[in-house]
Parts: sequence; C-alpha cells; structure tokens
Amino acid sequence: METLEAIESRKSVRAFKPDPIPGHILDKILRAASASPSYTNSQPWEVAVVSGKKRDELAQSLSALAKAKAPASRDIAEPKNWPAAIDSRVHDHGARRLAALGVARDDAAGREKLRLGNFEFYGAPCAVFLFMDASLGEWSIFDMGLFAQNLILAAHSLGVGSCLQASVTGYAPEIKKLLGVAEGKKLVIGISLGYEDDKAALNSYRSVKLTPDAFTRRYE
Ligand SMILES: Cc1cc2nc3c(=O)[nH]c(=O)nc-3n(C[C@H](O)[C@H](O)[C@H](O)COP(=O)(O)O)c2cc1C
Repeated sequence: METLEAIESRKSVRAFKPDPIPGHILDKILRAASASPSYTNSQPWEVAVVSGKKRDELAQSLSALAKAKAPASRDIAEPKNWPAAIDSRVHDHGARRLAALGVARDDAAGREKLRLGNFEFYGAPCAVFLFMDASLGEWSIFDMGLFAQNLILAAHSLGVGSCLQASVTGYAPEIKKLLGVAEGKKLVIGISLGYEDDKAALNSYRSVKLTPDAFTRRYE
C-alpha cells in the first residue's frame, strides 16, 4: 500500500476476527517500526508481543479488574482538564461514537460494555505493549509515539488492524507482573492487533478530523 493511502485510510479498529497474525507478518510489522526516528537514535522502545494463552490470561485478568472497577495505577497520568477547544472535540468524539453505535448517553450498561471491550483487546488475537525505562523523559515519550505510529501504519499496510489503548495502561502493575517486566519500566501504551471484523458495528464509526486550515498558520 502506498504511504499516503495507508496514512489516510487507517482507522482505529475495535472489533477483530479471532484469526491469528502469522509470525512473518508480525516480524515485518516490528521491523518496519524499528526504522522509526528517535532522539539521538536512542530507540527507547521495549516491546512485548502477547498472543495465544498468555493473551487470554491477560485479557481475563484485566477484564476482571475493569469489571470490579479496581483503582487504576498508571505510569503516565491521564489528562485531567483539557483546554476548552480540545474539551469540546473530545466530547463531540464521544457523542458521535455513541450515536453511531446506537448507544444513548444515559445508557450506562451500553457504555460500560463499550468500555470493557478495551480489556478484552476488542477480541484481537494479539496485544502489544510498549515500555520504556522509567528514568527516561519526555523526548523518549515522543519517540515512543513515533514508534507506535509506524507500527500501526505498517500493520495497516499489511492488512492488520489496530487500536491504540491508553485504557489498559491503568493496570500497568498487573500487566508488568503477568509479563515479568521490571517495575522500573514505564508502560506507555497497549495496542490491539488483528484482522478487522468488517461486519461489526463497532468498526462502522469514522472519527472526524480537523481540516489543516483549522490548525495551521502560514507565514511567508
Ligand atoms: C494515546 C492514545 C490512546 C488511546 N486510547 C484508546 C483506548 O484506550 N481505547 C480506544 O478504544 N481507543 C483509544 N485510542 C484511539 C483513539 O480514540 C482514536 O485514535 C481517535 O478517536 C481517532 O480515531 P482514529 O484512530 O480512527 O483516527 C487512543 C489513541 C491514542 C493516540
């Protein structure tokens, strides 16, 4: 797939077929992500690729925590207050998504079902976790974002859908424990990977993007 086409056609996938991703495709995705730029080529990423029994064990454990509304413990804090313009976009996104899925704003059970989907990796056969050393600073988080973006674009260009998931990072200590990752590592993001269930209503929603004029000032 051509680069621009891949960038413009990618979307978050929130319902997957159970079909596993062949090993050589996963290897290709990781090799492409490894080409990412980073501050002084520091390449801070440490990657866990979880599938099979371990994926099921993790999904079970995270789902139980999420259902019980166990308190979150994140390595990277959630945004608390957005500036007004962003706040309105965030709310608009939530409202449009619910409307597209036919879930009313006051349908607490319907909303909870959507939230809980995160912790089952939306049915994806593979969950990827990006870690970095906790001693690293903000530039490394920037690098991790570049790596994540290249990973999901490479996946998309190979027909593999993805969803970035900050939600699962709320249970960072449990994820590290189950994967045997040292506490001195920061869990930056989780990424569900797999083949899109293109019949699922959850995948019918396309997020609305700003046009360049809305975020660009041009100088000459
Ligand atoms: C840092 C980050 C965290 C995200 N966390 C979640 C998440 O926990 N659950 C989820 O369903 N989507 C999550 N997303 C996906 C966003 O909701 C999605 O990228 C956004 O709505 C734009 O839609 P698009 O990816 O289809 O373009 C996350 C995206 C980013 C960049």
